[in-house]
Amino acid sequence: MFPQKIFRLPPTILTGAGCIAKIGEEVLKLGSKRVLIITDAILVKLGAVDGVKESLQKKQVEYAVFDDIPTEPTIDYVKAGIKAYRENDCDCIFALGGGSAIDTAKAVSIMLTNDGDISAYMGLDKVKNKGVPLICAATTSGTGSEVTSVTIITDTTNDVKMLIGSSYLIPQVAIADPLMTVSMPKALTAATGMDALCHAIEAYVSLKASPMSDIFALSAIKLLAGNLRQAWANGNNLEARDKVMMGALKAGVAFSNSSVTLVHGMSRPIGANFHVPHGLSNAVLLSTVMEFSLIANPTRFACVAKAMGENIHGLPDVEAAKLSVHAVKNLISDIQIPSMQDCGIDAAKLNEKAPLMADAAIASGSPGNNPRQVSKDEIIALYKKAFTCIP
Ligand SMILES: [Fe+2]
Repeated sequence: MFPQKIFRLPPTILTGAGCIAKIGEEVLKLGSKRVLIITDAILVKLGAVDGVKESLQKKQVEYAVFDDIPTEPTIDYVKAGIKAYRENDCDCIFALGGGSAIDTAKAVSIMLTNDGDISAYMGLDKVKNKGVPLICAATTSGTGSEVTSVTIITDTTNDVKMLIGSSYLIPQVAIADPLMTVSMPKALTAATGMDALCHAIEAYVSLKASPMSDIFALSAIKLLAGNLRQAWANGNNLEARDKVMMGALKAGVAFSNSSVTLVHGMSRPIGANFHVPHGLSNAVLLSTVMEFSLIANPTRFACVAKAMGENIHGLPDVEAAKLSVHAVKNLISDIQIPSMQDCGIDAAKLNEKAPLMADAAIASGSPGNNPRQVSKDEIIALYKKAFTCIP
């Protein structure tokens, strides 16, 4: 018998090249008439918002644009987004961007219908009321934020990254149009793609995995491992871009329902202490953490190896599981993910900070979902091992 689980995802998901042109129709289906577009100024400058405006105009939907989004969403930007929504008398939010625009939009949506300070909703299932209608379109293939039930907002006063998790944060409509990703530079394609692969692998080996999340996680691993090289090598390869974007979306659905594990738990402190982008801080840890963890569930890691294209025929699970690490190392090498040293991480500073980073990793709760349980000393050792490994 399977244990009881709840599986959630957006009720409407648009995929395929050019699907963003349907935004006007989707706004009307939500019963809305005036949209606040939350995006960043660079996307506006690149013309990425033009097609959205055209689609809205065709359906006589009015809009206002809020494009003051930083690289890291903060409480102040959420407040500014709420102000823009109210001043423009909007009844729906459309987020276009990477994780920052979407995370800001999610927070704005719930803070329009929930009283008090956003910090009161930090943690899981604290949000009391559903937010205003929310549509999210991704412009990178990484975070999966367009389909997930979480947002991360930085409290700059207390220097805390607040994770808020609630089913009310799942957008009503998610849009994954690969045309939005063709201009991504190679390094961003590699880093965001590895973030998505981490989501998929972690979701699959997580102690909270379920039969439903497994379907999305395994499919995501296949799509990402089979197409990330091609998307990286030629950004105009629309078929590869489409498959990587679908992989990132499926990985988002998977981890939103089964949680990430030790890799993400350890990567957030790297980001906080060394300002390494999120995708890279995951990528430099992934193979080391998989090597450490596979003994706890070799069957699952053997399936990861197979999904990544390794030939595991006739091998005992433990040997097949090791091929998952091999597959990750090969991919990382092929798409030129830099080492921790090349990411600017200093050995002495890492040694000094590792105990506090391990505390932060454990406090995040993510390591608790890892198949192999891990102590603080083991996390410290894993940071040091990942540093000396060529990823
Ligand atoms: Fe991530």
